[in-house]
Amino acid sequence: MNTEDLKILVADDDSGARELVSAILAADGWPDPVLVEDGEKALEAIRERHWDILVTDLDMPRMRGDDLVRNAIEEDPDLSIIVTTGDGTVQNAVDLMQSGATDFITKPYDVDDFITSMQRARLRAMNVHEVRGMRDTVEALLVALESKDRYLNGHSVRVRDMAVKLGEHAGLDRGQLRTLGYAALLHDVGKIGIHEDILNKNDKLTDDEYKEIQRHPEISAEIISPVPFLNPSVKAVLHHHERWDGQGYPHGLSGEQIPLMARIIAVVDAFDAMTSDRSYRSAMPHSVAMQAIQSGKGIQFDPRIADLFEKHKDEILVREELTP
Ligand SMILES: [Fe+2]
Repeated sequence: MNTEDLKILVADDDSGARELVSAILAADGWPDPVLVEDGEKALEAIRERHWDILVTDLDMPRMRGDDLVRNAIEEDPDLSIIVTTGDGTVQNAVDLMQSGATDFITKPYDVDDFITSMQRARLRAMNVHEVRGMRDTVEALLVALESKDRYLNGHSVRVRDMAVKLGEHAGLDRGQLRTLGYAALLHDVGKIGIHEDILNKNDKLTDDEYKEIQRHPEISAEIISPVPFLNPSVKAVLHHHERWDGQGYPHGLSGEQIPLMARIIAVVDAFDAMTSDRSYRSAMPHSVAMQAIQSGKGIQFDPRIADLFEKHKDEILVREELTP
């Protein structure tokens, strides 16, 4: 992505301030921004398409800048936002950054400071762009995988959605939930390295075939570890088949030796597997699968995580029960 491709939106009720931003950007070789005079108009524009950078005033009629920041981030979490304001108190800056603003500058500002802030936003926008490209690659990889194993249809996305909700109840923060989300989405991606005949076999697996299937967490971890933004997810992926009692694989870890994210994935993965059709049996009703998770507490599953899953099941379960 090049600077001339950046889409920049400027929101300020003061036409002089809007023109000033426009002139500074033009003089420094940035693409022409789109100028709007209040938060509501800016939000409309954000709903219509993806922008890379939003420069917004804080004190505007109709919708204030802080409300705009919150709404804009909800609409497009990838947006980089610079807030300009006459009220440069620390508390104000902290509140805005917590709402999702990327940067904060006090008016009247120095042109160089403004450009520095724009450059930071550009760097972030470019990273976001790169990550979006990788996300597309990841999705393509999953489609390829799920087409190979007919019992995996939609499994990765469901496990991701349930894992993130369960992770929230387990107290993970936003960054950790993102790591968990990728881990849960990609936990089985290593099955791409396992022969289709084994994945789709209707009869009981031989010992050798079972060993072959058990390689998939390691293959998954190998696939994702070279990708920088997926690297934090590697441990959760590698250990998603460990068991609380130490009888799992690949390393036979037990209890809290198993990374928390892997313990979370283990619970929702098992639940989704039980409530989906498999080559050797049809789907179980939710209530039966939930019972099985409870019975596996302290044996296969982390008791605390299994309890949280039971406690918040109405919110966590993402799929209509398809079974009678
Ligand atoms: Fe797995």
